[in-house]
Amino acid sequence: MSASSTLRIHELTAEERAVYATLKPERLPEHIAIIMDGNGRWAGRRSLKRFLGHQQGARSVQMVTETASRIGLPWLTLYAFSLENSLRRPRAEVSFLMRLLRSYLESNLQRMMDNNVRMRYIGRIHDLPPEVQEKMQWVQDATARNTGTTLTLALNYGGRSELVDAFRGLAREMERKHIAPDRITEEDIHRHLYTAHMPDPDLLIRTSGEMRISNYLLWQIAYTEIFVTERLWPDFRGIHLLEAIADFQRRERRYGGIGEDGGEVEEDPQRIHIAAS
Ligand code: FPP
Repeated sequence: MSASSTLRIHELTAEERAVYATLKPERLPEHIAIIMDGNGRWAGRRSLKRFLGHQQGARSVQMVTETASRIGLPWLTLYAFSLENSLRRPRAEVSFLMRLLRSYLESNLQRMMDNNVRMRYIGRIHDLPPEVQEKMQWVQDATARNTGTTLTLALNYGGRSELVDAFRGLAREMERKHIAPDRITEEDIHRHLYTAHMPDPDLLIRTSGEMRISNYLLWQIAYTEIFVTERLWPDFRGIHLLEAIADFQRRERRYGGIGEDGGEVEEDPQRIHIAAS
């Protein structure tokens, strides 16, 4: 399924088109989430200051978003700033990231419009500096009618704090409607998540090689396929997104089932007894 926009495959680079040609269009993911990691290491390997890594990382955000919009990916959700980032990084780096976000939003609005991208945010947005929130709202409003890829930036985001916020919202609703706890369903929790309006990610990409989830979309990734690449985020481009999709398409998703070639399981009561004795 693709975002309700015309595909713009002709706008892909020749290399991207070659990878795209190997994909099965009917099995494209609907939602890709990315943990963008490695900006600091990218800068360190070049003896540059960390902030230059973040600056280069912001360029990757734009390039990858544009490729996503060309292939009609409906949902792209990027981990841009975690709650832990704001608590555990030097103040100067946090304030640089905030300024970078503002200038990114300002200077890329036109490209978002040209690419039919709709901008949204998840996280504890209300705790961000007011001038950043203002710019965020401005871009969200300006792109609200676009029908292509929805780019969601997770900002001041934490998976556990999202669950806390969801449970608080649900508890208030239950109190108001006099609902008993044993009537709570998974759907009720889903309705109170920041991501209630979008499908769960089919594919989670993490750059720079760490095998961690880092408190990202904890509820939503229950059945998500995970793709970890050694490539650092500032070196990640649209072609790497397409390669990750190709890898995803080679996998068989089971959702707790036994897959397409799962045949009859022969029962062997004796084996069960051996194991139990
Ligand atoms: C991790 O690099 C990345 C982040 C702190 C978040 C991602 C931020 C950007 C891509 C830049 C700005 C984004 C937007 C939307 C304008 P790191 O510093 O943890 O890298 P390291 O692990 O190598 O130190």
